[in-house]
Amino acid sequence: MFVKVMLKYFTERRKIVSESTLETELNYSPKPNINILSNNNIRFLKTIYRYSTVPMTILDSSLRILWKNGAASFLFKRGLSIIGEYMTRFFFPYLDDEKSSDIYRSITSRESGFSWRGRLETGGKDTLTVITNTMIFPIFDDIDKDDKPIGYLAIFDNVTEENKTMLKNTFLSLLEASKLKDNDTGQHIQRVNRYSESLALSLFDNPGYSQINREFIENIGFLASMHDVGKIGIPDDILNKEGPLDEREWKIMKEHTINGAYILDTYPNLMAKQIALFHHERWDGNGYPYGINGDLIPISARIVAVADVYDALRMKRSYKDPLTHQKACEIIEEESGNHFEPEIVKCFLKLESAFSDIYNSLAD
Ligand SMILES: [Fe+2]
Ligand SMILES: [Fe+2]
Repeated sequence: MFVKVMLKYFTERRKIVSESTLETELNYSPKPNINILSNNNIRFLKTIYRYSTVPMTILDSSLRILWKNGAASFLFKRGLSIIGEYMTRFFFPYLDDEKSSDIYRSITSRESGFSWRGRLETGGKDTLTVITNTMIFPIFDDIDKDDKPIGYLAIFDNVTEENKTMLKNTFLSLLEASKLKDNDTGQHIQRVNRYSESLALSLFDNPGYSQINREFIENIGFLASMHDVGKIGIPDDILNKEGPLDEREWKIMKEHTINGAYILDTYPNLMAKQIALFHHERWDGNGYPYGINGDLIPISARIVAVADVYDALRMKRSYKDPLTHQKACEIIEEESGNHFEPEIVKCFLKLESAFSDIYNSLAD
């Protein structure tokens, strides 16, 4: 029964949270049960774990955070504002309904020892994502008498760095493989990373781009390099052909976007796949592979499109001479609203000298 109530309550709560009104949410629910903080067992836990280097929080029976030690404050870069918040809300939006239900089910079930363990992620607009292996244990007042925990102890093992390193290593192996095949230089992909990162950074404070947070900027700064990974699947005679491609060859060449999405399909960060698949879409809908337009194109791909084209214009290719920075800027500006999103072109024009510096400092 309790599980049912919690699930219903949680579903309701998510509706409210999705409207981003935490205040309403707090009014909607009963206050956190701070009475349990005077319980002897909880006082004991607080005393022995106060200075532990392992991040910990104490939660009431509805998983509201009542106390945290210094290591938890440091890990989550959050002060007292975390107190009173639901732990599930704290990990929103990474924590989906299914996982939240799993947590509530597990911590209220005797069979699972009133405990839960699993991976959680949290992050905000101005903070990088933190990934933790999390364990939630029950706290009883009197284990012989009680049939329900009075609260919970949550312990967080920070695995952010090891997770990022593992992903980056997988990513770099793929990138090395693609470099063996593609005739674009390693410097081209490094420059596209840097341009994309600068554009994302300049959109950070723009209220229309709420999805651009610190994590987004860090990610695009290395995932942009993967835009042409799908060229692994393009035959060498087409990829390295001197001079223009005929209609059949061009059709095959365009498939590098779909190939890229296929290669990156299981990569845990969706942005990699979005960039590979959509970096040749155009704002006006005349791009490929799908001809989608405007906001339908993921923002990461709209950014990489400008970065990639600027660099391609500046580079010498077998079929074209390099253009000057000035000429490349003029072309990008002319394409505002056509090939490129106007707001991103505005950012590009503000940053244009940084683009030139990046091109010169990472010259081929
Ligand atoms: Fe491409
Ligand atoms: Fe490129």
